[in-house]
Amino acid sequence: MTTHRLAFSVAAVLPVVVAAGLAACVYPQSLASPTPAPSANTALISQGQQLFTQHCQVCHGTNATGGFGPNIQGKTATDVTTALQTVSAMSSLNGTISQTQIQALGAYLSSL
Ligand code: HEC
Repeated sequence: MTTHRLAFSVAAVLPVVVAAGLAACVYPQSLASPTPAPSANTALISQGQQLFTQHCQVCHGTNATGGFGPNIQGKTATDVTTALQTVSAMSSLNGTISQTQIQALGAYLSSL
């Protein structure tokens, strides 16, 4: 009896596990394929992510979801330039972040 019940539950669970495993393998690829991923942009984004971790995460939180400063996901390089010039909490960074670094930060933030 016990053996039967065990066999039944394995038979019931196994297809679900297999289906979930297959979905996990198949979905990321089919979702990713319509989006073109230019490699130059990917490099810029990862550079921006490093700069963010180094200079901005302390106030804007992990993945820019907010903390002391607001959520800045989706912001652009122009927004970063404006913030550096106008936000008093960020004034110590103004002038220390180059134009190239601002472009990278903008690429990273707008990718989130
Ligand atoms: C010392 C804390 C601090 C650091 C470090 C900091 N920020 Fe900020 N930031 C703030 C605060 C506070 C605000 C909100 C100011 C306001 O709303 O008046 C803000 C606002 C912003 C905004 C504008 C958000 C909006 O909704 O308009 C952007 C963009 C931004 N920060 C980007 C950055 C980037 C990029 C860095 C790293 C180079 C950074 N910040 C580092 C505190 C910080």
